[in-house]
Amino acid sequence: MDDIKRLKVHYPWIQTPLIVSAPMRLIALADMAVEVSKAGGLGFIGSGTNQTNLASDLQSAQSLLRDSDIHSSTLPIGIGFINWGAHLSTTIPLIQQYKPCAVWFFAPSTPASLQAWTEQTRHASPDTKIWIQIGSVAEAKDALAVHPDVLVIQGTDAGGHGLAQGAGITSLVPEVIDTVRTMCPNAKPGSLAQAPIFLAAGGIAESRGAAAALCLGVSGVVMGTRFLASNEANITRGYRDEIIRAADGGQTTVRTKVYDILRGTTGWAESHNARGVVNRSFVDAQGGLSETDNKRLYKVEEGKGDVGWGVEGRMTTYAGSVVGLVKEVRASADIVIEVREGAREVLRSLAEHVDKSRW
Ligand SMILES: Cc1cc2nc3c(=O)[nH]c(=O)nc-3n(C[C@H](O)[C@H](O)[C@H](O)COP(=O)(O)O)c2cc1C
Repeated sequence: MDDIKRLKVHYPWIQTPLIVSAPMRLIALADMAVEVSKAGGLGFIGSGTNQTNLASDLQSAQSLLRDSDIHSSTLPIGIGFINWGAHLSTTIPLIQQYKPCAVWFFAPSTPASLQAWTEQTRHASPDTKIWIQIGSVAEAKDALAVHPDVLVIQGTDAGGHGLAQGAGITSLVPEVIDTVRTMCPNAKPGSLAQAPIFLAAGGIAESRGAAAALCLGVSGVVMGTRFLASNEANITRGYRDEIIRAADGGQTTVRTKVYDILRGTTGWAESHNARGVVNRSFVDAQGGLSETDNKRLYKVEEGKGDVGWGVEGRMTTYAGSVVGLVKEVRASADIVIEVREGAREVLRSLAEHVDKSRW
């Protein structure tokens, strides 16, 4: 069975190419996940490192899905975890109860912890698929130990957290796919040893980027930054306005640990940092302002509301280098449909060019 068919069997409501909304912690909640899945994509709740609200988020998703046309033996949304800080023992009963179609694992502290999460999830809900987000060929090889169903290949353009040192998807995706396929030769279709399905993340916000990723060999794409400017994103107006304003993301976003430090988000390994829009906090840190003073100014800024965002603001604005292509706030469902249909159109017109020997 080819990968597109496998996707359609595992997630029967989807349309392809598959468009996925990333599990952005505190931002991608039940309404975004449900709207994305209802539009034929696959939406994730971002549960991150803190599962306090997970039961109520899942309950909301379940009730929002009650009148939908989706027929699935699993809950047709996924849950994303940041594994180094997530709580396995509180999560497993919820996976058993709600049976999400997928769980998304990211940044486990050790291979053994990834093994525990995977085994216990499969035991609690055998139809829940295991997705793992990786950012390098080495991480992809390591992930194979748990036989993931899906590998999300995250390039360095991605917004939010990822490997501090990385490559863009144009080089990373084909190298990961070639390496993984070589390591999973002749596995029986449907067996755990079969190569995972591949998706690309990082630097995709519209149809041309999605089409380009499909040309690299993935079956679908994940977008985070694009969905920050959606009706369903749980963010402040200041944050959303800054996503719409920022342009030329190669210059105006940066991978750094500064924002984590200011926000007191401790626990990420040295190997990881996060991409966000450059603002006064970062510029001052570069200029030598002490951590203590920068934190104090950040706290003051927190009290200012929406004006705390912007080039002269101090509030963290995690976003990817693709931010300059995000120009309007849309409904999540419209984003899914527009990118999916647009990518098909880009590929169709390229194929036509080749057919007519224009190249
Ligand atoms: C604001 C923001 C928050 C994110 N939070 C998470 C998270 O909690 N867990 C996770 O696995 N990935 C997270 N990511 C990364 C996404 O999973 C994804 O790799 C990334 O958004 C893709 O790149 P793009 O932003 O260019 O679309 C986040 C991304 C953003 C922009």
